[in-house]
Amino acid sequence: MRVLSGIQPSGSLHLGNYFGMMKRMIDYQENNELFCFLVNYHALTSVFDSNFLRKQTFEAACDFLALGLDPDKSVFWVQSDVPEVTELTWLISNVTGMGLLERNHSYKDKIIKGIPASHGLFSYPVLMAADILLYGSEKVPVGKDQKQHLEIARDIAIRFNNTYGETFVVPEPDIEDDTSVVPGIDGQKMSKSYGNAIEIFAGEKTMRDKVMRIKTDSTPVNEPKPIEGNLLFDIYSFFLDEKGKETLKERFLTPGLKYGNIKKELFGVIWEHFAPYRKKREYLIHDRQFVLETMRKGAEKARQVAFAYLERARRNVGLDYWN
Ligand code: ADP
Ligand code: TRP
Repeated sequence: MRVLSGIQPSGSLHLGNYFGMMKRMIDYQENNELFCFLVNYHALTSVFDSNFLRKQTFEAACDFLALGLDPDKSVFWVQSDVPEVTELTWLISNVTGMGLLERNHSYKDKIIKGIPASHGLFSYPVLMAADILLYGSEKVPVGKDQKQHLEIARDIAIRFNNTYGETFVVPEPDIEDDTSVVPGIDGQKMSKSYGNAIEIFAGEKTMRDKVMRIKTDSTPVNEPKPIEGNLLFDIYSFFLDEKGKETLKERFLTPGLKYGNIKKELFGVIWEHFAPYRKKREYLIHDRQFVLETMRKGAEKARQVAFAYLERARRNVGLDYWN
């Protein structure tokens, strides 16, 4: 099965990105044809500092490679290295109903958050649909917040096929329930732009401070702690299996538990979980040529697939005037 997903290099990657998308993608590469990319064209909708974008794109590449994305097994590239996606965006724009985009929550949410309202931001889902259709993607693993974007991509694929004849694979979203939303330290969805994220590769002090700031309630120490809606319990649970969760639950229900101690313990768990990857990432950050060469080769592989779909789309809409 061809599995594809992308992530914006618009800030440092965090636990939400890890559990919602990155880890799942890396797990998929064992038994699937994995296409994974860094969507820097999309990041342009909110990042206006060119040096920041360069740095984040390079670091996101190192993050994925360090976490286990294997460029020999999978296709891993930077979106703008296959600029054909922007041509496909135009071709599919003409079967994208205005209403479809006007109903998009993510556009409205981003404007409320202060991202400038631009044509790029408005047509963000069309570029994302082009990303998906250009590679014949069958399955797209994303967090719950991307559900509507996937529906738009499906709608565009169906309309294009109906208008011009079979051209694209209609993709299926792949959204897992228990990892669908990782909460941030304030209880909202963890996000690069809310200041509530625990970054995967933050320095020791920064990470400890963030974990210590996880919002907790004021249940006295000598009373059982609530489980339902308990942010500390929820974040900790992402690092535990079923048995581990049961044990943690019992500890929360036993009077005497101090949230401060659990936070210190959780910091240790997160720090250790990423320790081997941190080492590998440090190495990659300093082997710039290797990383750049890996991304270049990835784009070459991606382009071969892209080329076939784009040619078919150009022909089906009638751009091949010589025929
Ligand atoms: P952010 O909100 O931090 O900017 P993105 O929109 O770039 O994150 O999301 C990249 C990927 O990570 C998407 O698949 C998205 O669904 C997933 N993701 C982001 N935040 C979370 C979260 N808090 N919980 C689960 N998945 C998330
Ligand atoms: N919109 C996605 C996000 O913010 C990123 C993205 C762009 C994407 N193109 C994609 C995800 C194609 C999956 C498939 O997370």
